Amino acid sequence: NPNYPKMEGSSGLQQVSCRAKGGAPGFKVAILGAAGGIGQPLAMLMKMNPLVSVLHLYDVVNSPGVTADISHMDTGAVVRCFLGQSQLEDALIGMDLVIIPAGVPRKPGMTRDDLFNINAGIVKTLCEGITKCCPNAIVNLISNPVNSTVPIAAEVFKKAGTYDPKRLLGVTMLVVVRANTFVAEVMGLDPREVEVPVVGGHAGVTILPLLSQVKPPCSFTPEETDYLTSRIQNGGTEVVEAKAGAGSATLSMAYAAVKFADACLRGLRGDASVIQCAFVASQVTELPFFASKVRLGRTGIDEIYPLGPLNEYERVGLEKAKKELAESIQKGVSFIKK
Ligand code: NAD
Ligand code: LMR
Repeated sequence: NPNYPKMEGSSGLQQVSCRAKGGAPGFKVAILGAAGGIGQPLAMLMKMNPLVSVLHLYDVVNSPGVTADISHMDTGAVVRCFLGQSQLEDALIGMDLVIIPAGVPRKPGMTRDDLFNINAGIVKTLCEGITKCCPNAIVNLISNPVNSTVPIAAEVFKKAGTYDPKRLLGVTMLVVVRANTFVAEVMGLDPREVEVPVVGGHAGVTILPLLSQVKPPCSFTPEETDYLTSRIQNGGTEVVEAKAGAGSATLSMAYAAVKFADACLRGLRGDASVIQCAFVASQVTELPFFASKVRLGRTGIDEIYPLGPLNEYERVGLEKAKKELAESIQKGVSFIKK
């Protein structure tokens, strides 16, 4: 009925959107651990992303409720539910991007490495599914300890003969998001205009903000440098303590994960100059993995940038970071090799 008013922003009748299923242009994305603290807001934000045509939500519990809820949002992506190990492979078939926030979070007093014993096995199983069902997908690994889970994923892929280092990215975006926020606070700037490169890894001293390379250029007093470096390195712990046993960062993490996933999808689409920091297989240092700025393209990582000039404070931080990182990487590699 042409006289029947169509509401602004509505896709119209349910029947119309059903017919359109599968037809929308865009990428196919799976979230593994979609019913968790990160998984739920991440699923919601990915459903709002116009680059996503199909969104698979997989978890070992509660994915039906999350899927039913999110599928009612009137955005383009078709949402499908997958529950339990027996549906993992169906969740993964044909995916362009797989985002993994599955695993246990920290409680006060724990380090990220304390999560290794549980999360290493979870990441191994999920990555084995990826080798079988979507070996060419880009993988965004969020589960902690990222410094060890990324090497675990690499070893699983190597074992299966599907490893492409350009497609495996440990998500360190949250630390960049925090660094932008904290630097903006100190300097009285708009956080949306601040860019802080954060390199190294994703735990304690391995998190190395390069304050000498902040954009727009800023100069910090030694006190400001100490305060900012420590706050950025301990931002995760700040949230864990504030949540007092109810988990770690979930909402800011979902925001950061979507910012990063969107960058990966824009790279896949062929956009130029998509640059973010991530923990990847790298030759930037003597370590096999390291977080630094990477350029994202049609096949994943197109270029890994060198660290650039560091000041003395950052050079000392780099040595500390490398020592701890080497152990965490080795721990992940041996978990699969032994
Ligand atoms: P959560 O406990 O709220 O959610 C985890 C989800 O994973 C749950 O729904 C659980 O059912 C699911 N899960 C467990 N085993 C699974 C399996 N085998 N397959 C699929 N799903 C499985 O935890 P959260 O707060 O969402 O955090 C998840 C992980 O992300 C933790 O390891 C946390 O440390 C990490 N994290 C990383 C960053 C980062 O910056 N990279 C930031 C925040 C949290
Ligand atoms: C974070 O940085 O918030 C995450 O790595 C979660 C944590 O345990 O701190």
